Amino acid sequence: MIQLEDPADQAMVAKIHEADQDHLFDDWDQLDSAARHSLLKDLHHIDLSFIQQLIRDHLDSSASEAPIAAPTPPDWIPLADPGRATARQRGLEALQRGEVAVLMVAGGVGTRLGHPGPKGSFPILPISGGTLFQIFSESLLRLQKMVGRSIHWIIMTSPTNHAETLQYFRQHDYHGLTPSEVTIVPQEQLPVLDSRRCKILRSGPGQVMFSPDGHGGSIRLLQRTAADLRQRGIHHIYTHQVDNPLARMADPELIGLHIEQDSRFTSKAVAKTDPDEKVGVFCSVGDHLRVIEYSELGEEDRHLKNPDGSLSFRAGNIATHVIELDFIAPETASGPLQLPFHVARKAIRHWHGGEWHEPTSANSIRFETFIFDVLPLANRGLVVEADRDLEFAPVKNGEGSDSPATSRSALQKLWASWLVQCGIELEFDPSLQPLRTIEISPLVAGDATELKKALEKLEIPPEGPILLR
Ligand code: UTP
Repeated sequence: MIQLEDPADQAMVAKIHEADQDHLFDDWDQLDSAARHSLLKDLHHIDLSFIQQLIRDHLDSSASEAPIAAPTPPDWIPLADPGRATARQRGLEALQRGEVAVLMVAGGVGTRLGHPGPKGSFPILPISGGTLFQIFSESLLRLQKMVGRSIHWIIMTSPTNHAETLQYFRQHDYHGLTPSEVTIVPQEQLPVLDSRRCKILRSGPGQVMFSPDGHGGSIRLLQRTAADLRQRGIHHIYTHQVDNPLARMADPELIGLHIEQDSRFTSKAVAKTDPDEKVGVFCSVGDHLRVIEYSELGEEDRHLKNPDGSLSFRAGNIATHVIELDFIAPETASGPLQLPFHVARKAIRHWHGGEWHEPTSANSIRFETFIFDVLPLANRGLVVEADRDLEFAPVKNGEGSDSPATSRSALQKLWASWLVQCGIELEFDPSLQPLRTIEISPLVAGDATELKKALEKLEIPPEGPILLR
């Protein structure tokens, strides 16, 4: 065991030793004083007894996740529901009263996309090269103009991408938003463990490997900041993910339905047509709604069909929710809701025994929480159907499905359909992709009706790319 002068440091070293994690000091003799200081700081942040509890709960041979009892397909509000238009008005009024904050979860590592930098800085726009962050900032600006007041925006980063995200927004002047109305705040992180012996992995000599605690970290973040949000007059939190450029910012219709139905947790869902599409689905278990991961739904349930041929379990989760602040952070003595942890196993490069290791199979364990795990705790939840073509085109992988190519193609089709609705003639290839490249900034329009108005003042070039900004 290494010896240190500071009693607090020495007590921490003793705890590391008791927890059988001494390998974290293997490189101590080779570290300069700054690296030693940084290692000690990181180690002070680890709650070893909590990690040991997680290991006991999830990884000991006796621990296993309880199977989900008899899920049934949930009710949802379909696209054709006639009450949606009046709900939209209700939602607009709540936005006008300043009762809604938007929370974008952007703390993920983005391993599959492989983009250097925060995922939100990925240049998704096909002509200008504008980023995901730009789309959401401009969407919020448009909505603020529509409701005539600012809307508070929380961007959840992780300790790994926080500084870069902050720098991005400063460099881009917050894309025109008022900086005091944008809170950029990191979620918590946990150490990554080696899957065989539960040793904490290292991301370099003297460096602890950390990973963000899942998008459920947003619930804890909201609980930590609930007093400030209440002071701002906020009751409803609208959340979405950074990697879906079609995700609507503070959609008044969803907010209105949430308020009208006195819901605690309201979610958008798209109709799944492929039983093997890897998105979680909403289901009812007893009196409560919940999301079941693709892998948790049995083969038979996955393929179960309604008389009209549609999948019974088809309400696919697109991770857009409205959450009641009082539900997740009640002001009563019962205290905030707790989320369960899940285990994710991934192959990860790491430093061990004085050299790098590049495993080809899963060698690591991370503990994560999921935002939708609060849904079963809600006494009133709501699922609302969304049109996939209008609202869901995530950027997850570098290539293939859910990649920048498929997401850009969905954006092109959407913008082309708006132009056609405005009477603009366009040509399409056999896959219904427009032959001209199109980009319409959210500052110009958020739908075909708004575009029609905007075109009173804008010219469409006779040929070539169509860029409307
Ligand atoms: P994903 O599950 O797709 O993870 O996150 P990811 O980290 O972005 O990508 P991979 O799996 O490493 O390739 C879905 C959304 O949840 C956010 C992400 O930023 C994304 O918006 N997220 C995920 C967080 O905010 N924090 C997390 O700890 C995990």
